[in-house]
Amino acid sequence: MHPLHLPGSFFIIIIITFVLIHAPKYASSADERYVKCNRTFACGNIENIGYPFWDSDGPEYCGYPGFQLNCSDSTQEIRIGSATYNVLEIDNESRVLTVARTDYLDDLCPPSLINTTWNPDLFEFTRHTQVINLYYHCLPPPPPPAPLTPPTPIPNPENDEYFNHFTCNGYGNTPCGYYLTRNLSELPLPAHIAINGLLGRCGDRVVLVANQSEIQSLETSQNLSEETLVDALEKGFGLQWNANNSLCDQCGGSGGLCGYDKVSNKFSCYCTDRPYDTVCPTGQFITSL
Ligand SMILES: *[C@@H]1O[C@H](CO)[C@@H](O)[C@H](O)[C@H]1NC(C)=O
Ligand SMILES: *[C@@H]1O[C@H](CO)[C@@H](O)[C@H](O)[C@H]1NC(C)=O
Ligand SMILES: *[C@@H]1O[C@H](CO)[C@@H](O)[C@H](O)[C@H]1NC(C)=O
Ligand SMILES: *[C@@H]1O[C@H](CO)[C@@H](O)[C@H](O)[C@H]1NC(C)=O
Ligand SMILES: *[C@@H]1O[C@H](CO)[C@@H](O)[C@H](O)[C@H]1NC(C)=O
Ligand SMILES: *[C@@H]1O[C@H](CO)[C@@H](O)[C@H](O)[C@H]1NC(C)=O
Ligand SMILES: *[C@@H]1O[C@H](CO)[C@@H](O)[C@H](O)[C@H]1NC(C)=O
Ligand SMILES: *[C@@H]1O[C@H](CO)[C@@H](O)[C@H](O)[C@H]1NC(C)=O
Repeated sequence: MHPLHLPGSFFIIIIITFVLIHAPKYASSADERYVKCNRTFACGNIENIGYPFWDSDGPEYCGYPGFQLNCSDSTQEIRIGSATYNVLEIDNESRVLTVARTDYLDDLCPPSLINTTWNPDLFEFTRHTQVINLYYHCLPPPPPPAPLTPPTPIPNPENDEYFNHFTCNGYGNTPCGYYLTRNLSELPLPAHIAINGLLGRCGDRVVLVANQSEIQSLETSQNLSEETLVDALEKGFGLQWNANNSLCDQCGGSGGLCGYDKVSNKFSCYCTDRPYDTVCPTGQFITSL
């Protein structure tokens, strides 16, 4: 008996056949994370949303921490810091997110007072964005002191376009609040002193953010009412986001999809075969076609 002796070419044929039979299966079994993140989604009335955002339907690893959206039929919200925001626009070209505080949509007196804050690693001011200060729980202005000398006119800071009072039904005090659209230190001295006196009698301060052009039109409107301020806040403000943007650009350029790995706690680039740190290996893009 001779040992079974097959010619080398027969082996090559077997190998080629094996590869051909399994090739379609191999190509379709792309990495699960790549397949799951190969999508955009709609949230409320915004469509075509992708990385770094994710929603409760999509896997968390397709987005970046801090960019979870809360979607319902007609609303789309995001939590930044301790506050909840209505998402008005997502511009993925300029990477600007336009948001408005949900607790200031109807009036200036939310049940709890929360500053607009964000993680500076993730979000930055845009050049259109400006701070506005609201003061709450203020005592009424003190009566003017009895004049010893002939009275000099007391400046009334509420005549200034950048400062005014508002009232909150239910908060108890009238006027219970003031808002100031400028930095106190930048004001002319008489106004600075007068406003400082009024604000010194306030218990709380809230820092909000609005679109600069909305604040400018608020200042020039000659119609300083609570509603005009509420309107200005409702228009929202832009935040430039950074979710490892440059890594994501490199990943996308190599044919990968951006994501985040909660285990290693860093950016991850999903390629058809497996996740990589930054980019898919050369040739990945061709084989994924
Ligand atoms: C990714 O999505 C595109 C468009 O929906 C689809 O044509 C393609 O087959 C998907 N790729 C994979 C690997 O799932
Ligand atoms: C999502 O939004 C709904 C409706 O505004 C709200 O009731 C719910 O608490 C939110 N969920 C989270 C996790 O923020
Ligand atoms: C923006 O999103 C669209 C739709 O998902 C996508 O086709 C486009 O490549 C994205 N642009 C950038 C700069 O990420
Ligand atoms: C107020 O001052 C801060 C810091 O000094 C500055 O960043 C901001 O632009 C100023 N705001 C206005 C409205 O000038
Ligand atoms: C908001 O921030 C300002 C300045 O950082 C602080 O003085 C104020 O107490 C904060 N207000 C609230 C309600 O946390
Ligand atoms: C003042 O603003 C309120 C709210 O935006 C608006 O309803 C009202 O018509 C305005 N009044 C004038 C005189 O412009
Ligand atoms: C702010 O207002 C300007 C002028 O109206 C507008 O061009 C810009 O898009 C607004 N920015 C945001 C983030 O809404
Ligand atoms: C990715 O972003 C995080 C948070 O901003 C930052 O700490 C980290 O250094 C970034 N990684 C790279 C490689 O840029």
